[in-house]
Amino acid sequence: MITASETKLPRISTALPGPKSQLVIDYDKKYMSPSYLRDYPFVAERGYGAIVEDPDGNAFLDFAAGIAVCSTGHCHPKVVEAIQKQAAELIHIAGNDFYHRHMPQLAEQLVKTMPKPQDYRVFFGNSGTEAVEGAIKLARYATRRDKLIAFYGCFHGRTLGSLSLTASKNTQRKGFGTLLGGVEHIPYPYAYRCALGHTKETCGGEIIEFLEQQIFKRLFAPEEVAAIIVEPIQGEGGFIPAPLFFLQELQRICNRHGIVLIVDEVQAGMGRTGKWWAYDHAGITPDIVLTAKGIASGMPISAFIAKESIMQWKPGAHGTTYGGNPVCIASALATMELIEGGLMANAQKVGDYVFGKVNDWPQRFKIVGDVRGKGLMIGVEFVRDQKTKEKAADLRDRVIDNAFHRGLLTLGSGENSIRLSPPLIIDEEQADCAIRIMEESIREAEKNL
Ligand SMILES: Cc1ncc(COP(=O)(O)O)c(C=O)c1O
Repeated sequence: MITASETKLPRISTALPGPKSQLVIDYDKKYMSPSYLRDYPFVAERGYGAIVEDPDGNAFLDFAAGIAVCSTGHCHPKVVEAIQKQAAELIHIAGNDFYHRHMPQLAEQLVKTMPKPQDYRVFFGNSGTEAVEGAIKLARYATRRDKLIAFYGCFHGRTLGSLSLTASKNTQRKGFGTLLGGVEHIPYPYAYRCALGHTKETCGGEIIEFLEQQIFKRLFAPEEVAAIIVEPIQGEGGFIPAPLFFLQELQRICNRHGIVLIVDEVQAGMGRTGKWWAYDHAGITPDIVLTAKGIASGMPISAFIAKESIMQWKPGAHGTTYGGNPVCIASALATMELIEGGLMANAQKVGDYVFGKVNDWPQRFKIVGDVRGKGLMIGVEFVRDQKTKEKAADLRDRVIDNAFHRGLLTLGSGENSIRLSPPLIIDEEQADCAIRIMEESIREAEKNL
């Protein structure tokens, strides 16, 4: 329900940032770590639905959703009610030491989304990176092997274990010394830049061959490899979907060699692609699934969902103080109910609607090289020249800035792409508005070429 003071569409009434926003920016500069990125000067004051307002009363259509987190929109009434009710009953007890019903309740809902629910168990953490850390430890513990294989372009987090897997931007790793040993990266199937000219459906066969014929024969014997970890759609890397056959091939290799297949659904999961998990489109059965971001509409909780045959560690082998916090779980349960009750279908429907209108951007705009994704996970790649595919990070940044000044929040992704990852609640009117703003913003960037 939108109240009289609220809006569904952007409303910009000051220069940006406005005076009250500027005060917050100056305040922040005085106290906060300079490592925060902040691509443009947006200051959030309150949010509702797909809109966030700044302190100056400007309303922005949010196609960033807090990095694909606010899946049910901002402050969905059912999520707010669940959080408030739970906060009045029990805020914390430490599931590491004591039982509380909320943990198995959410675990039950999560395993219901797995191919064979009875085969899985769940561990809760606080963030995506913590899920990744736990999954690395579990894979090593279960296999008694230590080698890990990840992909160039992938992002799995910033703590030292997950950072060792992350191979997105060197600024994320530079200066932090020696990372985890035994990690090898291999190329990710990136159809738009496929050296062999394969399509979005067929790119990646040579990577499978490289893994089996080069990595396994020259670097690590497969029986030394604990896990392969993959994002079914690279998030930070540029919203790049892996072809379905590629995920199936990884599953085949893992099954053949007793390697744990970890699928990182932290960004792509929770209904965003029109199914619970992006890997569902490939019909595979991962050994461990990682989730965070969209699971609880903004409350900090993550989980790794692992096959029971793998999750066989001893009490005390892994733990956490806050993971499975009752308030976060209440939010997650309300979020999952909303996703199942219509938002996942909406992501598919409105996602298809958007793709129908933006698929031809490479034909209509000379700086757009590629449009890709699934559901409401839409990536747009910017190039200086469509023939050479020279990456145009500056043009991408200009489009983001132009969109911001028109009231649309987006985020960069990869070196030269924009990600559109709105809340799963958006309707066609809001999609049309975002498309119009993006088109104006691209046209404006092209004018200054
Ligand atoms: C695929 C993926 N895995 C892991 C992470 C790390 O999550 P967090 O920032 O919650 O630690 C991210 C964050 O962007 C991600 O996109």
